[in-house]
Amino acid sequence: MRIGVLTGGGDCPGLNAVIRAVVRVSTDRGHEIVAVRDGWKGLTEGLFAPLGRREVSGILPRGGTILGTTRTNPYKVDGGVEAVLRHFAEQRLDALVAVGGEDTLGVANSLHREHALPVVGVPKTIDNDLSGTDYTFGFDTAMTIAAEAIDRLHTTAESHNRVMVVEVMGRHTGWIAVMSGIAGGADVILIPEQPITVEEACADLVRRHEGGKDFSIVVVSEGYQLTYESGEQHLVAGAARGSDQFGHVVLGGVGDALARDIEERTGFETRVTVLGHVQRGGSPTPRDRVLATRFGLKAADLAHERRFGRMAALHGDTITDVSLEEATRELKTVPAHWYEVARAFFG
Ligand code: F6P
Repeated sequence: MRIGVLTGGGDCPGLNAVIRAVVRVSTDRGHEIVAVRDGWKGLTEGLFAPLGRREVSGILPRGGTILGTTRTNPYKVDGGVEAVLRHFAEQRLDALVAVGGEDTLGVANSLHREHALPVVGVPKTIDNDLSGTDYTFGFDTAMTIAAEAIDRLHTTAESHNRVMVVEVMGRHTGWIAVMSGIAGGADVILIPEQPITVEEACADLVRRHEGGKDFSIVVVSEGYQLTYESGEQHLVAGAARGSDQFGHVVLGGVGDALARDIEERTGFETRVTVLGHVQRGGSPTPRDRVLATRFGLKAADLAHERRFGRMAALHGDTITDVSLEEATRELKTVPAHWYEVARAFFG
């Protein structure tokens, strides 16, 4: 078989581990692997390169993706879908492994459903918001980086008697905020799924300070909508910076707005740290390397067995597969019971 591999959407630690696993096991089976450059852009514009054992040597611990990535959506490019199908045929590809999140795999699902494109998926995203799998690779690394940042902010918060607001990524779900916040002992955590009000958050901080503490850590997810008792609610997004081909606005900035609010309402000196793309950079944690490797092996099996339209998935401790349709139908949000774990330590 000739098997193409692409990585799409935001990059994420562990992508190279997936690529390595697909290449190693598939070439051992006698298949040929083709690198599709820059996500769906590569199939839309015809950007290919050979991909063999030599190219994947030494990449297991490396962050980013050796294939490059974009947020290109062929459905939003004039003649994009036809171009994808044409390039796929011209390259004599028998299968495609698409490594991505809801957008990249959403395109894979549509192309499979509408055009019988022989594609299998691997769930990637630091946001951990893909359905059908308990965890995506990349999330553990992002959560670890955020938890370490919270630990570091604790010591300086304590020295200065300050409130430290930490803004983390996660888009419209609060997985990174909740998990890193629990791990780092955050005093308040604000996420899109459970929009407690700014007034409630401030009351928690005041209660904590009245109880004898004179510093606090607040973790806020970039997609949390500032919510007030009056019912007013608004998302802080870089509207001026527009949206991508999947219609996503660029989030970011809620930490600043929240910090100003907290300082005004409580009188506590407040600072903000935006972790940003640091959460996506650098080497994957060992857990992510292992998960990405297992997903890569599963994707290689699915392609080899021609079980197209499926995605590698983690259920408990078992690697299995689900349909791309199921994985991309809706976002996997943080369930209330996880937020309750975090909430037990507020204030
Ligand atoms: O989906 C991953 C993610 O890092 C989100 O958490 C974040 O909102 C977005 O990508 C940032 O995208 P970009 O890299 O285009 O700024």
